[in-house]
Amino acid sequence: MQISTTVDGVRYVDQVEPRMLLVQYLRERLGKTGTVVGCDTSNCGACTVLLDGTSIKSCTMFAVQADGHEVTTIEGISRDGELHPVQQAFHECHALQCGFCTSGMIMQSVSLLRENPHPSEEEVREGLEGNLCRCTGYQNIVAAVRSAADAGDGASSQAAGSDTASAVAASTDTAGTGSAGADAERVGMP
Ligand code: FES
Ligand code: FES
Repeated sequence: MQISTTVDGVRYVDQVEPRMLLVQYLRERLGKTGTVVGCDTSNCGACTVLLDGTSIKSCTMFAVQADGHEVTTIEGISRDGELHPVQQAFHECHALQCGFCTSGMIMQSVSLLRENPHPSEEEVREGLEGNLCRCTGYQNIVAAVRSAADAGDGASSQAAGSDTASAVAASTDTAGTGSAGADAERVGMP
């Protein structure tokens, strides 16, 4: 089936098998390996990305279900070489150890702060309950999310990021540069 998606601000047109998971498409076709697979059973949240600005677990969706939608991965939230405020807060609060859960944690946190810019500790813990971490004990992750919220940046920056992504997508409908998939046609710069 042919799908057309905008991923991290770039529009892609690809032929995919109906059974291909969105996380497989992101990693194996687009090379977005910052999105990882921890369980494949929708338990861990390591594969979390944004679909039209709302967090989803990309191992629970088929790529064809993203047809016509906008996907944002961990690789699409920094701007002009600067970390997203939530990424910066994770760094400053030492909210990671092995890092395997981190991209999913950050994407879920971005979504959480977009919905609730000033969550309580309890609301942060509830908002992240679908994301598992085997290293940190969660304390510093919660601290990082609250730090980003206190800075007032998490939600506003994400909203700006989505606007930027849409603008880029709208301006890249030409000049295919396909390289990752044998049967893929890329529209725009990868
Ligand atoms: S890999 Fe998707 S929830 Fe674990
Ligand atoms: S930092 Fe290792 S699983 Fe979370």
